[in-house]
Amino acid sequence: MSIHISANKGDIAETVLLPGDPLRAKAIAENFLENAICYNEVRGMLGYTGEYKGKRVSVQGSGMGMPSLSIYVNELASLGAKRLIRVGTCGAYQSFLKLGDIVIAISASTDSNINNLAFDQLNFAPTANFDLLLSTYQKAQQKGLEVHVGPIFSSDIFYQDDPDHFKKWAEYGILAVEMETAALYALAAKHKIEALTILTVSDSLVTGEIASHQDREQNFLKMTELALTQI
Ligand code: HPA
Repeated sequence: MSIHISANKGDIAETVLLPGDPLRAKAIAENFLENAICYNEVRGMLGYTGEYKGKRVSVQGSGMGMPSLSIYVNELASLGAKRLIRVGTCGAYQSFLKLGDIVIAISASTDSNINNLAFDQLNFAPTANFDLLLSTYQKAQQKGLEVHVGPIFSSDIFYQDDPDHFKKWAEYGILAVEMETAALYALAAKHKIEALTILTVSDSLVTGEIASHQDREQNFLKMTELALTQI
């Protein structure tokens, strides 16, 4: 039994979808899984294990930000998870990205010190698992889903003081911002498991647009279907 996930080895599937929002975990379990069992309610961070097309899969809320996600990833790894797929939202840093577009993160730069703490202030380069990325990309192509594969930025700050802060990162090709992947990829490397982040664009730092709640729901379902091809 771990501290933040009230489960034992065997309660968690090898593949775990990781939405930030625990209510999204519930929605994924309700909309996609059969025979789903809620194995965790500690701190309201819901986790479920069920079946999708006959294959076992878990879905676990991670919370917002790298400290929260790190707790769940460490505990999932100790409970036997082998493949973690974050399904989340991001803010676009590029003008060609539209609300609802899907972004797959090849790497995650960060303003966080969280990985440097583990590396005596040297920089680890957090990268996706190549096989998982390639396979997800190929499934997207088969489904006729357009996806943007590239580098993202994982930030500790949602509300930046400087509205132009994103421009430097955008200049260097960063597609979008979220708040978890740099830690997810580093911890996956540490635990020798696979990880991938799939995101939908929920807002744009370039135009200031924000997706409606209804559009967010639709886009989230589309992205979840793509993630579920990897179990
Ligand atoms: N900033 C940081 N994280 C995010 C954003 C954003 O604009 N949108 C979705 N996750």
